Parts: sequence; C-alpha cells; structure tokens
Amino acid sequence: MKRLFFALLLAPLSVFASGDELHLDHANIDPHDAISIQRGARTFVNYCLTCHSASSMRYNRLTDLGLTEQQIKENLLFASEKVGDPMTISASRKDQKQWFGAEPPDLSVVARSRGTDWLYTYLRTFYRDEKRPSGWNNLAFPNVGMPHVLWQLQGIQVLKTESEEHEGHKSEHKKLVLGHPGSLSAIEYDKLTRDLVNYLSYMAEPEKARRSQIGVVVLFFLLLLLVPVWLLKKEYWKNVH
Ligand code: HEC
Repeated sequence: MKRLFFALLLAPLSVFASGDELHLDHANIDPHDAISIQRGARTFVNYCLTCHSASSMRYNRLTDLGLTEQQIKENLLFASEKVGDPMTISASRKDQKQWFGAEPPDLSVVARSRGTDWLYTYLRTFYRDEKRPSGWNNLAFPNVGMPHVLWQLQGIQVLKTESEEHEGHKSEHKKLVLGHPGSLSAIEYDKLTRDLVNYLSYMAEPEKARRSQIGVVVLFFLLLLLVPVWLLKKEYWKNVH
C-alpha cells in the first residue's frame, strides 16, 4: 500500500521527465556588471539592430552605464544619427515579413516576456536545417523565422537524435554537435551571449540595479527612523497611566 502511494506520488514526475521538454540553461547574468552590459550593447547594435528595433531604448540612456556621449557616437551609433534617438530600424515591417515569413519583434522588453534563461538558451541552440527557408532551426523556438545571425562566431551546429532503450522504454534525446567551428570557442561564445542577454535584461528594466540599491538604502533609513519614533512614543505615553 505504501509503495503504491509513493508510485502514485512520483508518477507525474516521471511522465514529465520523459517528455520532450527543453532544458533551459541558466543565464547567470549580473545586472551590476556595467562592463558586461556595455559589451552586450555593442553586440546588440552590431548584430541585432539590423532587423529588430528597441524603440523604448534611447542611445544616450547608455550614459547610465558609464559611457560618454562621445563613446556612444563612436562605437554604437551605426543605425542612427543622434545620441538622443531611440533604437529604431529603417527596414519596413512588411518587407521583413516577406523576407523571413515573420516580423522581427521589437526587443525592448523581450527579457521580461521570455525570461533571461530562455534567451540565453535560444541564442545558443540554432542548428542547420535544410528544410527551413532560412537554412536554420532552433531548439528553443522550433521553426523560427530568424536566421542564425551569430553563426560565424559560434560555428555551425547540427542536430543529432540519439535513441536509448532503458528497461523496455524507448526514449529519444536531441543533442547539438558542432559540425563546423566558428571564430569563437564554446566558452567565448557563451560569454558573448551572456553579455548580450545581460544587455537585453538591462534594456527591459534599466532601473533594476539602481532599484535594488535604493531598496537597501530605504530599509536602512527605516531602521534608523525606528529610534526617534520609539523615543517619541515613550515621550507621548509617559503620563498616560
Ligand atoms: C536577419 C534579421 C534578424 C536579425 C539580424 C536578428 N533577428 Fe531576431 N528575429 C528575426 C525574426 C524574423 C524573428 C521572428 C521569428 C518568428 O516569429 O518565427 C526573430 C525573433 C527573435 C526573438 C524571439 C522573440 C519572441 O519573443 O518571439 C528573439 C529573442 C530574437 N529574435 C533575438 C535576436 C537577437 C538577440 C539578435 C542579435 C544577435 C537578433 N535577434 C538578430 C530576425 C532577425
């Protein structure tokens, strides 16, 4: 009876584990690491802003990260003229829909809608698929319209399906292997995507790092305030008995 109880308790878990769930890798980003966010901003402007806009982000907001307007002008301003401009693109949405079969969405708040672990996994799981019009597919976003724009850095991954038989149960594992190396090693590519995700996360919530600092200050202030308030209370109630 006890055994049956445990078997029932664990049943949904084993079903879940054998399903085709994608395991998300942890992005492990640090919102206080301004240098990492700066590197991510550079990758974003170079590789993503050709198709995606980030219209709620203005270039000069990056001065928050310790960049001067001159640095922004020299290193990041390719798609725009003025540092006060939002990150928009010139291609029309309609054209893009025709080219890729889907519109590249605005990425201003994608880190909030998708989550940083999903983004980190997505950017690292593109693989070659001749059946797709773009020649690429993705484990986190099956049949995605986006081509793998970072392939020269990561290299070309191919999908291998391994089937395994365990106690009469057949299971299939999808695995990506590097068929053709890119200009970066796997560790360097992970770092590049981590910085990029750090930037996407910053863009979705530029105040995040500052807000947690403010939180600490506020709590400290409340703690200090407790002393005079307590003394005041004692003073008020001293004659009431
Ligand atoms: C050549 C054009 C192009 C470039 C360059 C490009 N993308 Fe995309 N991206 C697309 C298209 C098209 C889609 C929509 C895919 C779909 O819906 O099938 C997309 C979708 C996405 C999505 C999924 C959004 C969602 O929530 O559905 C993310 C995230 C994304 N792109 C991130 C990036 C990042 C980061 C870069 C830079 C490294 C980048 N993209 C560069 C075309 C592009």
